Amino acid sequence: MKKRQALGVAVAAAMLAVAGTAAAQTGKPYKVGFMLPYTGTYAALGNAIENGFKLYVEEQGGKLGGDPIEYVRVDDESDPAKATDNINKLIKRDQVDVVVGTVHSGVAMAMAKVAKDSGVLMIDPNAGADAVTGPMCAPNIFRSSFSNWQPAYAMGVEAAKRGYKNAVTITWKYAAGEESANGFKEAFTKGGGKVIKDLTLPFPNVEFQALLTEIASLKPDVVYTFFAGGGAVKFVKDYAAAGLNKSIPLVGAGFLTDGTLDAQGEAAQGLLTTLHYADGLTNAKDKAFRLAYAKAYKLQPDVYAMQGYDAAQILGAGLAAVKGDKSKKEAMIAAMEKARIDSPRGPFTLSKAHNPVQDIYLRKVVGKENVVQGVAVKALADPARGCRM
Ligand code: BEZ
Repeated sequence: MKKRQALGVAVAAAMLAVAGTAAAQTGKPYKVGFMLPYTGTYAALGNAIENGFKLYVEEQGGKLGGDPIEYVRVDDESDPAKATDNINKLIKRDQVDVVVGTVHSGVAMAMAKVAKDSGVLMIDPNAGADAVTGPMCAPNIFRSSFSNWQPAYAMGVEAAKRGYKNAVTITWKYAAGEESANGFKEAFTKGGGKVIKDLTLPFPNVEFQALLTEIASLKPDVVYTFFAGGGAVKFVKDYAAAGLNKSIPLVGAGFLTDGTLDAQGEAAQGLLTTLHYADGLTNAKDKAFRLAYAKAYKLQPDVYAMQGYDAAQILGAGLAAVKGDKSKKEAMIAAMEKARIDSPRGPFTLSKAHNPVQDIYLRKVVGKENVVQGVAVKALADPARGCRM
């Protein structure tokens, strides 16, 4: 409640300014259905996405395309088995105009199937499932985040450049983990390295001990990992507690240390990761976003909050082009496709498959920050394998 009040105060001036100029277009509310995890290991990620999305809408006076935005939400629990029922609740029961979701790749793939079959607009604000902007790509499916391939590929490039010759990967056994390990392997192998073992455990299991013992005996030059949320916190702490951080460098997709550093503390210091966001970026949009987010929610934003904010920006570009007239779906989609998003990560455009073409940063954990070290790969576009659009 307090956060909501703070958000209201933070944007009051902007709302007043907009109210005078942007006449309501159709007058009818545009209905956004959040399908996100609000419980479980990814709960914090879901909340951050919703916060980021709402912040952008509030900055526009609570309206996009001149019409007020209304919200409904469903907790998807990061459970693929419930995903089809959950998205159908939003579409059929709640009659939403757009579904914004989700975090977990397995859930997102089930959502994309329903979105593709039903034609409902879907904006994926996190889940990296390569298939969503690959074989399942569709005119009505957009992503404001990344493909699992993107940050992983960049770390493969970086690890090879650093002269590591053999690597072990460790992750959860589901689409995000496996695709992340594959993306790393693709670039690392191209750069002359070899992955000697892929270690996995079921999502969201955090019993890492046996796998850490195996890493100690394999003695690779480097360990590449994908974990996020609560699982990432536990993995980084267990890796350090086992003493492996002293002998075998741990690198990862940036989710390993994003939104998690308060809990990881000393164990995370010095970790190198790659991601499409970082601390210490110098663009004006990021500065304004961080200030506004901190003021509204009394929290620092992370990559998930930023992706939620940009999901709203993509939707806003579409609705502005049709002045809120959602019946003009083709024109709306065309505007979303063409949009150049002024993102806190830096400006980006969307690929033909509707995935951000973006710089992937190399970051290093220093204190409570993922401090940008430079760009690992510039304007990296997902290959969109299997997308016919
Ligand atoms: C995924 O399942 O795609 C995912 C989950 C958390 C962070 C990043 C990706």
